[in-house]
Amino acid sequence: MKAWRVHNNGEPREVMRLEDIPDPEPGAGEVLVRVRAAGVNFPDALMCRGEYQVRPPFPFTPGVELCGDVLAVGEGTPEGDAPETGSRVIAQPALPMGGFAETTLVAAASVRKAPEALDDAESAALHIGYQTGWFGLHRRARLQRGETLLVHAAAGGVGSAAVQLGKAAGARVIGVVGGKAKADTARELGCDVVVDRREDDIVAAVKEATGGRGADVVYDPVGGDAYAKSVKCIAFEGRIVVVGFASGAVPTPGLNHALIKNYSVLGLHWGLYNTKDPAAVQACHEELTALAADGQVKPLISERLPLEECAGAVQRVFDGTTTGRVVIQP
Ligand SMILES: NC(=O)c1ccc[n+]([C@@H]2O[C@H](COP(=O)([O-])OP(=O)(O)OC[C@H]3O[C@@H](n4cnc5c(N)ncnc54)[C@H](OP(=O)(O)O)[C@@H]3O)[C@@H](O)[C@H]2O)c1
Repeated sequence: MKAWRVHNNGEPREVMRLEDIPDPEPGAGEVLVRVRAAGVNFPDALMCRGEYQVRPPFPFTPGVELCGDVLAVGEGTPEGDAPETGSRVIAQPALPMGGFAETTLVAAASVRKAPEALDDAESAALHIGYQTGWFGLHRRARLQRGETLLVHAAAGGVGSAAVQLGKAAGARVIGVVGGKAKADTARELGCDVVVDRREDDIVAAVKEATGGRGADVVYDPVGGDAYAKSVKCIAFEGRIVVVGFASGAVPTPGLNHALIKNYSVLGLHWGLYNTKDPAAVQACHEELTALAADGQVKPLISERLPLEECAGAVQRVFDGTTTGRVVIQP
C-alpha cells in the first residue's frame, strides 16, 4: 500500500516521500483502518520539521486525524474499545503510522462514530479543530452568550471551527485574517466583524466594534504579534486562550499587565484531555455530532486532494496560504 513517509527533518515538500510499504498489522489496543479522508493540520508540518512536541521515530507517516473504515481490530484489544469491523469512524492515527496512507493504524480508544450528517472529508475535519475549539471556548474560557469573541486566523483550520462554535454559543464574533480572500471566507463563516491584519489596525477595530470595551475572549492560534495586539484590546475580566504559534513566535506574557487589566491567559493542549478526561472528549464528540446534524457547524473544506498531492498541501498549510481544512482522500 502507498504511504507518505518522513526519514529526516526538514521542509514538508522536501522530506515527505510517497512509498510502497506493507500493510501495517494492528497490535493490542490498535485498529487497522482504510483511510477515506485525512485532514492536513499545522502540526503535520511541525512534525516534518522536528518542531512539534510529539517527535515520532523515523520513518514516520504524518496525518493526525482521519475518517475511515474499520478493517480489523488488534488481538488483545479490550472489548469495550473494539469497534465493529466495516464501521465508518473518525480517529487519531497511532503515530508513527499516521493518516496520509491508504491504510493505517489508529488507537482503539480514539475511535468514534463518524457523524452521519457529514461526508468523509467533513467528518475527518470535525475532529481536532472542533474539539480544540470546544474545549478552548467552553471548558477553558467559559464563553457566555452575548460575549464578544475575537478569533485570530479566523479563516484557518482551528480558527474557522472557533468562529462557528462561537456563533453556535451565541457570541458576537470578530475574525482577524490575513488578506482580502480570507476576509471573504471569514464573513461567509459567520463572523460579525472581519479585520484584515494586513490592512487594518486590529486594536482600533476591536475597540470600535465593542464600544471601547474590548473582546471578552480571544482565541489565538497564531502567537507573536496577534498576542501582542490581543492584550491591548482585551476586556476587563477577559480570557485569552493560547492555542498555538502559527507565526513561529512564542509570546512572553507580561504578568504585571495581566494584573493591571484583570485578564487571564489560559493555556490549551487539547490532546491532553484524551488521557486526563477521555469521557469529556467523548461528550464533546457527541455535542459536535449534534451541532453538525443541526447544521450549526459544518467544517469548511477548501480542497479535497488525492494522496499524491499531500506533501505540497502540508507545505501550503505551514506557509499560511490555505483556508479552512485541506483534506487528503486516498
Ligand atoms: N492547542 C491545541 O491543542 C491545538 C490543537 C490543534 C492545533 N493547534 C495549533 O493551532 C494552530 C493552527 O493550526 P491549523 O492546522 O488550524 O492551521 P491554520 O490556522 O489553518 O494555518 C495557520 C494560519 O495562521 C495564520 N498565520 C499568521 N501568521 C502566520 C505565519 N507567519 N506563518 C503561517 N501562518 C500564519 C495564517 O492565517 P492568516 O493569514 O489569516 O492570519 C494561517 O493560515 C497551529 O499552531 C497548531 O499547532 C493547537
